[in-house]
Amino acid sequence: MASVIIAGVGSYAPPRIVTNEELSKTVDTTDEWIRTRSGIRERRIAAPDQTTSDMAVEAAKAALTDAKLTAADIDLLIIATASPDAPLPSTACYVQHKLGVPAHATCFDIAAACSGFLYALEIAYGQLLTNRYKRALIIGSEKLSSVTDWTDRTTCVLFGDAAGAAVLHKVDQPGIGILGSDLGADGEFADNLYISAGGSKRPADAQSVAERAHCIRMNGREVFKSAVRVMETVAREMMEQHHLTPDQINLVIPHQANIRIIEALAANLKVPMERVYVNLDRYGNTSSASIPLALDEARRSGRIKPGDLTLLVAFGAGLTYGSTLIRW
Ligand code: UT7
Repeated sequence: MASVIIAGVGSYAPPRIVTNEELSKTVDTTDEWIRTRSGIRERRIAAPDQTTSDMAVEAAKAALTDAKLTAADIDLLIIATASPDAPLPSTACYVQHKLGVPAHATCFDIAAACSGFLYALEIAYGQLLTNRYKRALIIGSEKLSSVTDWTDRTTCVLFGDAAGAAVLHKVDQPGIGILGSDLGADGEFADNLYISAGGSKRPADAQSVAERAHCIRMNGREVFKSAVRVMETVAREMMEQHHLTPDQINLVIPHQANIRIIEALAANLKVPMERVYVNLDRYGNTSSASIPLALDEARRSGRIKPGDLTLLVAFGAGLTYGSTLIRW
């Protein structure tokens, strides 16, 4: 019986830190409001000339080093992003070129917003199990600052830039690595979190730019309610499928959007917050990068040990959601 393991993880966050205090100088908000409503204290913002693919490459290099592999070993490259370098070509092709992933590799992007990394994980997992590919590099990378309306206080205080990556391959050992993966989507809620212009529905024009319609808009309250509901459901189902009780999960790594969403999830699942990883206070919501960034930090800081069970839980625009159970 073969398994697919995460052989290496890595992450990157741009060095520039923007605090709540700094934001409150340009938009009508306060550090107190942002901290109490979201749990965010600061976020990282990429340099103007730094792209989503640049950050993806840094995270990928760290993940490859961690896995003791090189770009030449990769034959499947998937980038999850909601802020690609450009609509065409895929950011994966830019990353392939910058990193030196061979020409025979399959390289593509997926659009599943904040659940994107778990979507990429499931695709890579399935493809590796069928022996179609040998080694996969999956990356969640976001320059959300490029699609943020910096005059909209209801969204601009929430997002940040970062990238996180993982290298996966098959091993001939049962019961380790990815034990289960479950994804879902509910398009009924698509209009709660969206970018309205810049696509075929509303191609960019002078008016769309003037309206900043190429930036993220959100019905925060509705997204909040959906997030708590779907994350609890998908996490609970994963534990039930594997006959696990919450006390058997060593660490839950949820998508980092709002500390109140994370605390509600933990309370509903009856998992103490000591076993829930939180770093959104330092990074804000980095969409598809949030889970791999947290995973990398958790591993490097010793919060994940060999044999541990980790449950990843995501939700995002779409409304997409997913959970992944991993034995290290
Ligand atoms: O990756 C998935 C993406 N998104 C999410 O997970 C977001 C989910 N939603 C949330 O995290 C929360 O809904 C928010 C943090 C976005 C907002 O928190 P909330 O407790 O739902 O606040 P609210 O939208 O109900 O707004 C409360 C008040 C409003 O004023 P009034 O109408 O009560 O006078 C807002 O205008 O807070 C006001 N407000 C702000 N005040 C200061 C909204 N944004 C700000 C701000 N600073 N930045």
